[in-house]
Amino acid sequence: MALLVTGAAGFIGSNFLLDWLAQSDERVINLDALTYAGNLDNLASLQNDARHCFVKGDIGDFDLLSRLLADHQPRAVVNFAAESHVDRSIHGPEAFIQTNIVGTFRLLEAVRAYWSHLVGEAKNSFRFLHVSTDEVYGSLAQGEAAFTETTRYEPNSPYSASKAASDHLVRAYHHTYGLPALTTNCSNNYGPYHFPEKLIPLVIHNALAGKPLPIYGDGQQVRDWLYVTDHCSAIRCVLEAGRVGETYNIGGWNEKPNLEVVHTLCAILDELKPRIDGQPYLAQITYVADRPGHDRRYAIDAGKIERELGWKPAETFESGIRKTVQWYLDNQSWVHNVTSGAYKKWVGQQYGT
Ligand code: NAD
Ligand code: TYD
Repeated sequence: MALLVTGAAGFIGSNFLLDWLAQSDERVINLDALTYAGNLDNLASLQNDARHCFVKGDIGDFDLLSRLLADHQPRAVVNFAAESHVDRSIHGPEAFIQTNIVGTFRLLEAVRAYWSHLVGEAKNSFRFLHVSTDEVYGSLAQGEAAFTETTRYEPNSPYSASKAASDHLVRAYHHTYGLPALTTNCSNNYGPYHFPEKLIPLVIHNALAGKPLPIYGDGQQVRDWLYVTDHCSAIRCVLEAGRVGETYNIGGWNEKPNLEVVHTLCAILDELKPRIDGQPYLAQITYVADRPGHDRRYAIDAGKIERELGWKPAETFESGIRKTVQWYLDNQSWVHNVTSGAYKKWVGQQYGT
């Protein structure tokens, strides 16, 4: 038995892989293009583990995918691979269209061909799980009810539009071809191995480096935060027991304005790693121009996955954020590596790209 997991050198995928192999001996084939966001350091503990098979490649490569599926005969495919950063999608949407839309399409084509040749129990039990985001639902006003699985899609950024398109393709492959697909739409994640371009790791990194902590606009935009391993446990639940063709929202009922998140990070850092000059890290907060088209509020209603699959997050925001800060303090060499360019150079040498 094996799983094919795409994008498992990235933030959530690598956490998923580490969690998976901590509780199962089922082999995982990890297909990842190793973009700036993919980092094999995240999986260093699996270096000599025969259960992990890493393949550097693109989800848009139909021939490679067909070969991997034929060789490894996975019982499921979990698709994490994506371009994932909203700000990058504003500066350069092309890569988002290529990976998130065209890439998902090619992946679906390869998986459809593989699945259609399976027979009996192998065919019945096969699953394609597509990992998506709450950002496809657009922006909520203050006081408006949280997103449910029936909320209308209203994506506002090139990132969320490309994820919305991929969700629609997955839906169509289920309805048209019967592909046993499931989609999860999760809120903002945080935790170990988060690339320091997103709010939480960026603030920790900049705080420790004595750099400004940039707050877009008034800092009152609301995100719904979930500790990454809780997202991973939800995906495992959906993979094992989710109803085929359904979508599941995943979230921790943890809405926070950005400024509050940054204040919390500063307070934990003041306690765990005080500034040499005795000043609070809050002094580094800097208000900067707002993100164009900035969504005001996201909030997930996770009632369906809780009721149907009995899933519940294990971490509160308070426990998860403390663990996260501690992880970054304990893993400064990881941060240095992913920000220094040394990793990119190594990938170039290792893979000739
Ligand atoms: P990430 O950017 O950290 O990692 C993405 C991974 O995909 C990287 O390892 C990258 O090398 C790989 N990749 C990119 N393009 C590829 C391609 N064409 N072929 C193969 N691999 C490719 O992203 P993440 O935060 O771990 O997000 C993973 C998934 O979860 C994404 O689909 C994202 O939309 C979704 N999601 C993320 C969040 C969040 O808060 N980060 C929340 C909800 C959903
Ligand atoms: P981010 O981590 O990029 O996730 P997303 O845009 O997918 O929700 O941003 C989280 C929130 O933090 C979002 O409202 C934008 C804001 N933000 C800042 O205020 N400053 C920053 O430097 C960054 C990266 C984000």
